Amino acid sequence: MAGDVKKRIEQLRREIRRHDHLYYVLSQPEITDQQYDELFSQLKALEAQHPDLVTPDSPTQRVSGRPLEGFATVRHAVPMLSMDNTYNADELRAFDERVRKQLDTADYSYVVEPKIDGLAISLRYEDGRLVTAATRGDGEVGDDVTANVRTIKSVPLSLIDGARVPSVLEVRGEAYMPTRSFAALNEARAESGEPPFANPRNAAAGSLKLLDARITATRNLAFFAYATGAVSQPLAGDHFQTLERFKELGLPVNPHIERAGDIDEVIDTCLSWSERRTRLDYQIDGMVVKINRFDQRDILGATGRAPRWCISYKFPAERAQTVVESIAVQVGKSGILTPVANLKPVQLSGTTVKRASLHNFDEMQRLDVRTGDTVLIEKAGEIIPQVVEVKKDLRPKGAQTFPIPKKCPICGSHVTKDEAGVYVRCRNPQCQGQLKERLRYFAGRDQMDIERLGTSLIEQLVDGGLVKSFADLYRLQKEDLVALERMADKSAQNVLDGIEASRTRPLWRFLAALGIPHVGSQSGQVLAEHFGSLEALLGASQEQLEAIDQIGPVMAESIHTYLHSTGSRAVIDDLLAVGVQPQVESRRRRSGALEGKTVVVTGALENFTRQQAEQAIRQAAGKASGSVSKKTSFVLAGKDPGSKLDKARALGVDVIDEKQFMDMLLNEGK
Ligand code: IVH
Repeated sequence: MAGDVKKRIEQLRREIRRHDHLYYVLSQPEITDQQYDELFSQLKALEAQHPDLVTPDSPTQRVSGRPLEGFATVRHAVPMLSMDNTYNADELRAFDERVRKQLDTADYSYVVEPKIDGLAISLRYEDGRLVTAATRGDGEVGDDVTANVRTIKSVPLSLIDGARVPSVLEVRGEAYMPTRSFAALNEARAESGEPPFANPRNAAAGSLKLLDARITATRNLAFFAYATGAVSQPLAGDHFQTLERFKELGLPVNPHIERAGDIDEVIDTCLSWSERRTRLDYQIDGMVVKINRFDQRDILGATGRAPRWCISYKFPAERAQTVVESIAVQVGKSGILTPVANLKPVQLSGTTVKRASLHNFDEMQRLDVRTGDTVLIEKAGEIIPQVVEVKKDLRPKGAQTFPIPKKCPICGSHVTKDEAGVYVRCRNPQCQGQLKERLRYFAGRDQMDIERLGTSLIEQLVDGGLVKSFADLYRLQKEDLVALERMADKSAQNVLDGIEASRTRPLWRFLAALGIPHVGSQSGQVLAEHFGSLEALLGASQEQLEAIDQIGPVMAESIHTYLHSTGSRAVIDDLLAVGVQPQVESRRRRSGALEGKTVVVTGALENFTRQQAEQAIRQAAGKASGSVSKKTSFVLAGKDPGSKLDKARALGVDVIDEKQFMDMLLNEGK
């Protein structure tokens, strides 16, 4: 009887997995949603009656029940590199020249594939079961996002049986958010007063960094596999066959991947996708061009962060045509006045665009943008759209130029133009327009990350005189909030909880939130890591700041000036006085498991090519050397090691095998 139940459960799981694969990977469903739901509830019911029979790879176990406290880190056994970019056919040809020269033959071919605009993920399967999923992170160490990745329906929790699965198989690919899901998500966020994501990539990244996988599960993420990481046995000798094997294993592979015999074919394919890409239901920002054969990839190797065997071709930014309905002026957090074009709404890269920046008044005059003009707008990366061209031939008669303001549109004080600069600025430190922007930035996702403190609430708080500074946020009482329009008791509490939680944000967020000119979250992290405390930073001289790698003289001066101006110090002291306590995170160790060690690799390894092993040694702070000497710390020997092993033995140098090597690297990650 118990055996029958077990059999039935396994049968149901097989069925459901098959239908998941048909639906999410192949887009060829064979049954209706209702029939699928029926199978699923049968399985759920049986598992509920027999909890001992529940296994982690059961289709019912995609979503875990409890939020995580934080993400563990994972050290990638094979580093996740980045890619060099090209922007036109000439640069692609130059890449091909370099390849031909280095391979010293014309006998090679390419694979061309869409460059999916999401984020890189490494999936580790052991004996066919998904055990870990990690983000790329800095390429060496990423976040363990297994719970979240398990909710992506096109990621198989177990690979298809009987397809000769290697015992260890790391699959690398891109997690992304389909354009339609992205639009729906942003619409829902707008309705609930949450800030929209700038693009599907940010939305995908944000969704994978959630601590509660139940929310990730609602985000409709998807995945395409495009490479292997560490493997106990290579799936094939070249890339194209590897992708074919991925498909056999049930992994989703992009259907538009093509082989190209030479660079002309590569260029044709890349250029043709520049037009065709808008028809896809996910965003691609270019094409990736890869040498097909792995032995040839090994010869080409890698430079620093990127392999020499692949290159990306980036599409020119997408453009759209629309009409300027009016021109308005915005006041930024440092008082800069920016002209903004209000547009007739138009679709661009998956979002509806209603406004575009004109950058500054000089630029507005250079473009000669006027109300009523037909313009081309462009979205470059994550930056808000900008007007790039005015269609003068379509200009309506009598279209008026927009005058450069003499007064701040918010506070009415006189504005001045920066010396030598192009910016027109409101210099009134009490300007409410500036204050609102500063608060918005302070509460932003990359700064203090105060949930539910959105634009309209900030407007109300400032307009109502409740908040005149950052610190005032922490003085808010529930009575203040419930008195506001459309603010129920529960929402008021949520706002207060969000503010409360931000009291103990990491120091780098605190530094980024202050709005010090030139200092963002990146430099905030550099400063926090370098000084370790706010006090230490406050005591730093300009020279000490300049001496830090990644802090240039302009930034050093800006930080120093800010920290030593009476007004800014009062802002900081006030925040500390209301109980904000920036936390110092324990520093991530920059050193590695192989620090100070010189390692020689010899023979054939199972999980790494020679190049990859040497890369892993360097990533772990070791030195990879080509020849054995007394200075060699140890030799990593694979199959058929040859004379280097003999020499190591003769010199009494330690020899380790691949397993010991992997252990060394992995222990480091813990
Ligand atoms: S191959 C050595 N193939 O692009 C890099 N990457 O700019 C191997 N990406 O971090 C990556 N689509 O996140 C590869 N078809 C594709 C890709 C792809 C998107 C991303 C990936 C990588 C980034 C590099």
